[in-house]
Amino acid sequence: MDTMDKPVDSFELSCPPAILFGCGRFGQLPEVVESLVGRQVSGGRCFLVCTRGFVERGGLDLLSLPRSQSPVGVFSEVRPEPELAIVDRLVGAVRAANPEVVVAVGGGSTLDVAKVAAVLAALPEAPVKPYFRGQLRIERPGLPLIAVPTTAGSGAEITRNAVLIEPETGKKQSLRSDLMTPRVALVDPELTLTLPPKATAESGMDALTQAVESFLSKRASRATMALAGTAIGLLLNHLPAAFRAGDGLPARIRVAEGSLLGAMAFAQSGLGAVHGLAHPLGVALGLPHGLVCAILLPHVLRFNAPVCEERLTRLARENGWAGPGRLLERIVGLSDELGIPSGLRGYGLRPAHFPFILENCRSNSMNCNPRPMSDAEVGELLQKLASA
Ligand SMILES: [Fe+2]
Repeated sequence: MDTMDKPVDSFELSCPPAILFGCGRFGQLPEVVESLVGRQVSGGRCFLVCTRGFVERGGLDLLSLPRSQSPVGVFSEVRPEPELAIVDRLVGAVRAANPEVVVAVGGGSTLDVAKVAAVLAALPEAPVKPYFRGQLRIERPGLPLIAVPTTAGSGAEITRNAVLIEPETGKKQSLRSDLMTPRVALVDPELTLTLPPKATAESGMDALTQAVESFLSKRASRATMALAGTAIGLLLNHLPAAFRAGDGLPARIRVAEGSLLGAMAFAQSGLGAVHGLAHPLGVALGLPHGLVCAILLPHVLRFNAPVCEERLTRLARENGWAGPGRLLERIVGLSDELGIPSGLRGYGLRPAHFPFILENCRSNSMNCNPRPMSDAEVGELLQKLASA
């Protein structure tokens, strides 16, 4: 089989200006706000985007911002798998509050919606739809954004894209701009201690999928493979403990670290067929992104393995595994442990869904898959998923 099983020799690396990682980092928020708005500006005027749960659990007190930096607005209405309309509502709220900095605390959806809104709020008034459709381009930086993830999985705190859904077409795709990258990612593993087991499993498997797809991506460089390879080891070794005993800090730290390193890798290398397929499948079946990724990952890895022998052997060597097949065995074992099913029959996948998925899976992610996947091969994979 034809193989492109080598890292690329020509690449670009860009990371957000600052990643602050570690327990207790959340307490540094006031000084980070201050550093962004500058002391010369009279006090920070933050706009907070967060989950409703964060507000209900007293998160606003946790912020411990001095009075001069207390939020001038709070928006806690973002739900998972966000649609375009929520971006427009947030942009309206941010414009009305006229802040100097936006702070987003939450999972990938919250961070993504905040990333778009922080930029659009500073541009001439227009809805997000023409940007989503590529009819308008983001040409100026927006409000500075501090991204604080409360899950360990999406990587949204450092990436330049936001995944949104256009309900009338069912399109789930990324809106991308370098200007959307958060100015500071404040990653505090302690914030994940209260994440329930199901969300821990789904976000963690999203992180693992991202790391694996980055490692095997057609655009992977030695730099991204080093990050992604480390992320894969961290996530495989520590996700089970984070799932079983969520309040165990050591495992939470390693999973958060794995998620971050994997995101630093895939932000450069792109992803693969799991993410190409997961977006339309998630829309068609109304399932969370991490769950769909977790179910697809072993299937796509089996498909890709014949062209990735060399990389899988390298990964095995680095992790002290017996051989290139060990990654798949470890992933299948982990999925069993986390209670993730092996197919989508139980979630109602039927042939009637296939045309929509075929039509909407040809994204940037699909283009990075190490083995091209024809329509017929996508069809075969969907058939397998529908019967398992
Ligand atoms: Fe993902």
